[in-house]
Amino acid sequence: MRDALDHWDRTFSEIGQNPESEEPWLGRWIADVLEAGRDAPVLDLGCGSGLDSQFLIKNGFDVISADFSKEALEATRRRVPEARLVRFDMTHRLPFPDASFRVVVASLSLHYFPWQTTLEILGEVRRTLKPGGYLLARFNSTRDVYYSAAAKEEVEKNFYLVGGLPKRLFDRRSVEALFAGGWEIDSAEERATRRYGGEKTVWEVAARKTD
Ligand SMILES: C[S@@+](CC[C@H](N)C(=O)[O-])C[C@H]1O[C@@H](n2cnc3c(N)ncnc32)[C@H](O)[C@@H]1O
Repeated sequence: MRDALDHWDRTFSEIGQNPESEEPWLGRWIADVLEAGRDAPVLDLGCGSGLDSQFLIKNGFDVISADFSKEALEATRRRVPEARLVRFDMTHRLPFPDASFRVVVASLSLHYFPWQTTLEILGEVRRTLKPGGYLLARFNSTRDVYYSAAAKEEVEKNFYLVGGLPKRLFDRRSVEALFAGGWEIDSAEERATRRYGGEKTVWEVAARKTD
């Protein structure tokens, strides 16, 4: 965990001088998912440099931006000075009461963990969502060009060490397995996006908490 934290602190202290940008992916979810959640804050889980927090705040949402990297939170603060920042490690119990949120956003932040840990994080996200609340998430796809080309060591099925850091790739079956207990997947699509100056393939998922 220490290695991962050091990695992200280093990454975001560099990004701080050279902010990345991409087409906001949350735009297509405003009408169908986000609008209904204006009565509670949106949690941006693993907010990184705050791209999604910035988009949400610009669109008038109350946002809690969360990450375990101090440098990530600092980069978010520079990008959106009004952001509400919370620092924690999401592999532990999330520091929020049950049913705090109508929407949790987790973009490219849930694929660093062993399968059992990933399920536990999903369980915590579910606990902190109100009934009928949504997780809007993006995961690296098994079709992602960068990771298929990268030198890597497989430690679990579709879970690799890439340059010493763990990364999971998702196919449809693993997306469905992740949301098998207590969730309804409204939408799960592979989509192309851009990151780090190159093309990237991700699963974009809207999953609703069921009773
Ligand atoms: C690829 S970045 C994505 C950042 C942002 N959501 C985005 O899409 O630009 C992954 C983020 O997850 C955070 N992260 C990784 N493991 C974490 C953990 N155990 N607890 C909290 N945040 C974590 C990293 O610090 C990093 O900011």
